[in-house]
Amino acid sequence: MRPKLSVNVNKVATLRNARGGTIPNLLEFASQVEACGGQGITVHPRPDQRHIRYQDVHDLSQRVTTEFNIEGYPSPAFLQLVEQVKPTQVTLVPDGPNALTSNAGWDLRKHQIFLTGIVRRLQSQGMRVSLFVEPSSAIMEYAKSTGADRIELYTENYAKTYGESAELAIEPYVKAALAAKELNLGINAGHDLNLENLRYFASHLPGLLEVSIGHALIADCLYEGLQTVLKKYLSCLS
Ligand code: PXP
Repeated sequence: MRPKLSVNVNKVATLRNARGGTIPNLLEFASQVEACGGQGITVHPRPDQRHIRYQDVHDLSQRVTTEFNIEGYPSPAFLQLVEQVKPTQVTLVPDGPNALTSNAGWDLRKHQIFLTGIVRRLQSQGMRVSLFVEPSSAIMEYAKSTGADRIELYTENYAKTYGESAELAIEPYVKAALAAKELNLGINAGHDLNLENLRYFASHLPGLLEVSIGHALIADCLYEGLQTVLKKYLSCLS
């Protein structure tokens, strides 16, 4: 089975918020992603709502027809939001309120009990729960014991070291994935995946179900869309 691509649309909201107003239109963008074959939409609302606002999450939940994945730290406000919206999947991430982007997986030994309660609470309302984790086979037992359905492997380190040796870069991820599979945990992955490193990752990681990609994908839309758009603007001036 091919892994699903869930497109993280945070950066579209960042661009919109830079000017106020509704350009680019987040809902329209999400619908176009789906029309083009994207199999999911991911958002990561942060407490300061600097990109995705809580209202965006409500609006997207009415619009998204594929899988809706909401990521974030399980603060009371975040939990209230996902309980109102009930997305397909909630990805729990340990980032602090001021983190620029997710920068670590859960310390599952420390937060096992805290997460177990939250996983149960969300699952009882029909949501699938995934935990953002480091590529370590040792922590998979802890992930399993929380009752989570899936783990999301934090791929920043893979992306950073891919250029030196793809084989070495993916090694800990393969080991972690095998341990997760053994325990019947589903496997997602994300962070810093891009056109250069994605194919190798997807073809070498056993059991990969889903990747969520934002930053590089949105940047590639700018590059690859430039020629078409520039032609249109130049033609207005001709
Ligand atoms: N997964 C998680 C938990 C994230 O926080 C992010 C970034 O919001 C991503 C995946 C996607 O990372 P990127 O924007 O680098 O593709």
